[in-house]
Amino acid sequence: MSLVQIHDKEFGLFISKKELESIVDQMAKKMESLQSQAPIFIVVLNGSFFFASDLLKALSFDSEVHFIKVKSYEGMESSGKMNLILDINVDVSNRTIVILEDIIDTGTTLHYLIIHLQEKNPKKIITASLLFKPNSYKQEHTIDFIGKSIENDFVVGYGLDYDELGRTLPQIFKLKHD
Ligand code: IMP
Ligand code: MG
Repeated sequence: MSLVQIHDKEFGLFISKKELESIVDQMAKKMESLQSQAPIFIVVLNGSFFFASDLLKALSFDSEVHFIKVKSYEGMESSGKMNLILDINVDVSNRTIVILEDIIDTGTTLHYLIIHLQEKNPKKIITASLLFKPNSYKQEHTIDFIGKSIENDFVVGYGLDYDELGRTLPQIFKLKHD
């Protein structure tokens, strides 16, 4: 399947299952270095659930996993205003936490999450994202682990949605421009 239709838009195959597997495995290898810090992983819902599931299974060490949910996107544009829909309910004070994101675009969501989580007094906040759009990023925070940097294209699949659809596709598809 190299073309998919979601709502009114057509998307073409961009990252195959095999490439996703290799990206996630390489990230997991790099993240093995975190073991000694006994990190708490914080999965950003909904988009990151496929990625987080595969990444955390690929890590050789056991960890605590918690979930947070924020919303900023409407359709294909970041709405700019952030809503916290689900917070973590775990004490992270003096612990290393790792934010697991599916994609970092402008960085608004990441910035909001960092400010929010800093109030809980963690020892350290580490950031990891499967995909990163460097030409769209407007924040200063360094992203510690990046799976793949991409152009400013809108992508769906492997957890990423276009108005709530497309998430369950096992590959990543990119919007086709006409
Ligand atoms: P940011 O706040 O602009 O960095 O956007 C981050 C959030 O917007 C991500 O967690 C995604 O939920 C969503 N997002 C950004 N780019 C895309 C995309 O290309 N496809 C689907 N969702 C996206
Ligand atoms: Mg989304």
